[in-house]
Amino acid sequence: MRAIICEKIGSIEDLKVGELPTPEPGAGEIRVRVHAVSLNFPDLLMPQGKYQYSGQPPFAPGMEAAGTIDALGEGVTGLEIGQRVAVHPWIGCLAEFVVCPTDWVFPLPDAMDFDTAAAFCLTYGTIHHALKDRGRLQAGETLLVLGASGGTGLAAVEAGKAWGARVIAAASSDEKLAACRARGADDLVNYAEGDELRHQIKALTDGRGADVIFDSVGGDYSHQAIRSINWGGRMLVIGFAAGDIAQLPANHILIKQIELIGVAYQGFARRFPDRCRANIAAMMELWSDGKLRPHIGGTYSLDNGIDAFRAMRDRKAVGKLVVRLDQTV
Ligand SMILES: NC(=O)c1ccc[n+]([C@@H]2O[C@H](COP(=O)([O-])OP(=O)(O)OC[C@H]3O[C@@H](n4cnc5c(N)ncnc54)[C@H](OP(=O)(O)O)[C@@H]3O)[C@@H](O)[C@H]2O)c1
Repeated sequence: MRAIICEKIGSIEDLKVGELPTPEPGAGEIRVRVHAVSLNFPDLLMPQGKYQYSGQPPFAPGMEAAGTIDALGEGVTGLEIGQRVAVHPWIGCLAEFVVCPTDWVFPLPDAMDFDTAAAFCLTYGTIHHALKDRGRLQAGETLLVLGASGGTGLAAVEAGKAWGARVIAAASSDEKLAACRARGADDLVNYAEGDELRHQIKALTDGRGADVIFDSVGGDYSHQAIRSINWGGRMLVIGFAAGDIAQLPANHILIKQIELIGVAYQGFARRFPDRCRANIAAMMELWSDGKLRPHIGGTYSLDNGIDAFRAMRDRKAVGKLVVRLDQTV
């Protein structure tokens, strides 16, 4: 089968399009004929050996996909060949076929197209776990989203609005912030220009600060953000897209009684697949109600799919980037 292949751990410039053996589903697994895959930031990290879970080369990156079931492994019930599904097997999706344990197979509503489905389950599953399970976000609270035009960021903006929060979106350009406004953000902060982030947040909140902070960026942005949090606020540690892992000051955490909360969606989904499935079902309902609409910021073919990695690396992506494996759909 054709795939984007990591043949050695190194740089994303080492990725290539080539052939891999078609995988066979084991017991409790299905095989999917892949139609679309969305990139997630860990797809950039894994080929560089910078992610906590690693593939053994040669492997196809790609954590989440959508397509049709092509084969059922031993013991699989309740799913059918030909059924439209989204899957997040965490690796192997950028290929014509991928296998996935049934724990992370999500049948699709008829109205959900494959591009949307490929961009939905892992991303919005992360957001539900982050904002609801871990962050306990309440209607009426102020949510600050860093990297708000990114894949997880825009989903956090949308979900925050759907759950009744006031959402402040922070990003590095006016074009990116326009995408956040289109997804419902109440207030916009350009953290590449103007006053420091913390001053802008304080000005927008009458000096109180944000109640919940979604931080998928890290580095100096985390330092700025924790200084803009309300007393008793919750800071969600999602990721480090900027590269640096902030060492946050314990004295601020003490004085403002801040909760610093780690979010690890993959670890959660592996330990609690039933809760993961319930969360995604809740997000699918919000999608059916028209409250969530993944923004597809670019589509690529398998042949130019490595350009999607470059766009994400170069901070050019807005929303989700999708690689279409099957151009006939
Ligand atoms: N904890 C979890 O369970 C979980 C789940 C999914 C993802 N994540 C993590 O969340 C982070 C974001 O993932 P994503 O898929 O949303 O990525 P993404 O779509 O690329 O978004 C990342 C955002 O970070 C900002 N950024 C700041 N400095 C950057 C830099 N040097 N390079 C790239 N982006 C930079 C960019 O916005 P601006 O240009 O506006 O700053 C960009 O929009 C990653 O660290 C990922 O590993 C964690």
